[in-house]
Amino acid sequence: MDWEPLIAAAASARVNSYSPYSRFPVGAALLMEDGSIFAGTNVESTIPSLAVCAERNAMTAAVSAGRRRPVALAVVTETSPPAYPCGLCRQTLSEFADDDLPILVCNPQGEREEVRLSDLLPQRFKLDWPVTP
Ligand code: THU
Repeated sequence: MDWEPLIAAAASARVNSYSPYSRFPVGAALLMEDGSIFAGTNVESTIPSLAVCAERNAMTAAVSAGRRRPVALAVVTETSPPAYPCGLCRQTLSEFADDDLPILVCNPQGEREEVRLSDLLPQRFKLDWPVTP
């Protein structure tokens, strides 16, 4: 797995973060099954509960473009150690990704940690619904 293009896409998106309240910019990028990449950043609001995370914005961008099968996710934050996707994003990703989705969290200092979605969301809630892939 060549993570560099995904990290670069996530880092570029992070620059566009709208996070004046938390001052915590996040960038995320998804590699899709067909090789396309969709990036997202966090977008906050004066109504705190309306903030949307970078990961979910990347996922909804992919779905909006007709891509529903993520095969890898990179997340870039400034913190050390790098931050992991929140619970809402884990569940949203699990709607579309396999349990073994590789997730790389990293920061500009070069720290990297790789896990699988199942590490972050074991025994995920998933109905055996006939969802069209
Ligand atoms: N945030 C993300 O974008 N992704 C995560 O997985 C965790 C949190 C954002 C939401 C909010 O804009 C800021 O980080 C601080 O919580």
